[in-house]
Amino acid sequence: MQTEIRKAGPESMEKAAGLLLSGELVAIPTETVYGLAATGLDPLAVQKIFAAKGRPATDPLILHLPSPDLKVAVESGVLAQPIPHCAFHLAKAFWPGPLTLVLPRGSKVPDEVTSGLSSVAVRYPAHPVAQKLLQRVGVPLAAPSANRFGRISPTDAEAVREELDGKIPLILDGGKCETGVESTVLSLLDDEPLILRPGKITAAEIGGVLGKAPKTQSLALQKDNAMPSPGLLESHYAPLTPLYLTDQPITQFPAGLEYIHYQSPQKNLEPNRRALCPNDDPYSAAQNLYRLLREADAGGAKAILIEPIPDSPIAPALRDRLHRASSGTARWDGHRWQFTAKK
Ligand code: TXA
Ligand code: MG
Repeated sequence: MQTEIRKAGPESMEKAAGLLLSGELVAIPTETVYGLAATGLDPLAVQKIFAAKGRPATDPLILHLPSPDLKVAVESGVLAQPIPHCAFHLAKAFWPGPLTLVLPRGSKVPDEVTSGLSSVAVRYPAHPVAQKLLQRVGVPLAAPSANRFGRISPTDAEAVREELDGKIPLILDGGKCETGVESTVLSLLDDEPLILRPGKITAAEIGGVLGKAPKTQSLALQKDNAMPSPGLLESHYAPLTPLYLTDQPITQFPAGLEYIHYQSPQKNLEPNRRALCPNDDPYSAAQNLYRLLREADAGGAKAILIEPIPDSPIAPALRDRLHRASSGTARWDGHRWQFTAKK
């Protein structure tokens, strides 16, 4: 199959809507990362997502809603009662935006979307192209990140092509993603809301609406219990080159490795050294993360080393993705880098 990249505009979006409504896949921009979209209530269309990504059927998908009104989602069978009150408050506060809510699943949602769970993850994205397309197709779009399973999420149209060339007919180019890391996933199934995946919307911000900051499900727990979010595998978001986290700023640069600084100590870095946050804005580190990992991955090095992420509102999301992407830790022993594999 020929994969076409087209700038998002009235014509290309009409073509995208036609493809989606006939059960085909289209990669679309969202404010977080690019999504691989199919109409979310059609089991056959949704199955194509799993085939194109090589994603196991046990990893449930997010439905992107055509309207931010949760009542509409209940009436159309996407969600089921009881929807907790706080869900309405959270949707009002953060939608459109990078917050995904896990809620009771409605009768119209096929098992393919939820991996058979009785819950479904929903969000209303902020990217104008995603919104217009959702409005045009009028049904929720199931869309995981538009990468092959376990690999780095794409934050521009070219990165989608690197991942899925030949597997999908169309990539809608809506520019570089503004957030750069995937949405915060918040489960509202229990009395105690729980963050299953940290993102740009922080526990503190959610707490400001709920009256109490939610807990974040720890990686260790996710590994042991395999629930409540079966898709949150620890090894994820990974480059092919092994990635190691250092516990201090990197000051030693033997050849054959790629180095990712947080902020660069100097202007003109060697080609194997990159800076995640060239200015003082921590959100730019999130915008740059996946692109830099892709570039470092293409460098042909034996390993990629990455410096610690300093505290900021977006730091939990960055540390979560880097931890999942990592093979272990690296430490300079005075002569060489020593690598310790992740347990
Ligand atoms: O920002 C995003 O969320 C992007 C854009 C494209 O919207 N999408 C995305 O989708 O990151 P994906 O499939 O890569 O990640 C969805 C996450 C998975 O970790 C999955 O386990 C979790 O959401 N999830 C989906 N349905 C769930 C459910 N019913 N219960 C718990 N976790 C669920
Ligand atoms: Mg993903």
